[in-house]
Amino acid sequence: MAVKMVHINGIHAKSRWDALAHPEVSKWVFIDLPVSYTKTQEWCESVGNRPNRADFCFEVDGVPAGFAGLVNVDSKSAVAELYIFLHPDFFSKGLGSEFLKQLLSYGEFELNLRKVSLFVTADNTKAISYYEKNGFEIEGVLRKHVWFRGAYRDRVIMAIFLDGLGLNADKFYNETV
Ligand SMILES: CC(C)(COP(=O)(O)OP(=O)(O)OC[C@H]1O[C@@H](n2cnc3c(N)ncnc32)[C@H](O)[C@@H]1OP(=O)(O)O)[C@@H](O)C(=O)NCCC(=O)NCCS
Repeated sequence: MAVKMVHINGIHAKSRWDALAHPEVSKWVFIDLPVSYTKTQEWCESVGNRPNRADFCFEVDGVPAGFAGLVNVDSKSAVAELYIFLHPDFFSKGLGSEFLKQLLSYGEFELNLRKVSLFVTADNTKAISYYEKNGFEIEGVLRKHVWFRGAYRDRVIMAIFLDGLGLNADKFYNETV
């Protein structure tokens, strides 16, 4: 199975919308409902020009399977925040872990990041297990911090230090376009 990470552009609008609009994804991801196809398209077309972030589509054997990015990149402190979601057809096959590894490698080797953090709603226990399995640790909980899907929710802050993870950048440095 070949996994390729590609910078997001307009051609990814349909697959990004398909994933985001799926209830198993929109249930957890901070996006206004109903998910707008037009806004998704505009976003995909323009996001490559925005500073301080890098957004990717992850293709599996040429098929868009998931999306992830590093946002709020702060070069002075060498930190960024991460988001990730897969289309449910690709859940629980180990792909999310593979995409995460590749994204963190990009963060370490291309962006020279030191630490990556993320926010996850406390009831998203599957995602918390997934992040822990991949080396993230809980740094704190913001209690009843965000109004999301009809309730105030706790937000868990998780983070990982990239040094010493044994990441390597061969995947994207050796890739042919
Ligand atoms: C969270 C997500 C990225 C995980 O990706 P994935 O490809 O499904 O996860 P993986 O197959 O790599 O699994 C890695 C670990 O995650 C956990 N996990 C995966 N699927 C799980 C499930 N159905 N129930 C509980 N834990 C699960 C397990 O710890 C698993 O390790 P294991 O296979 O050794 O048991 C993906 O499920 C997703 O996109 N979810 C919806 C969007 C979302 O919640 N994003 C995060 C918002 S902060």
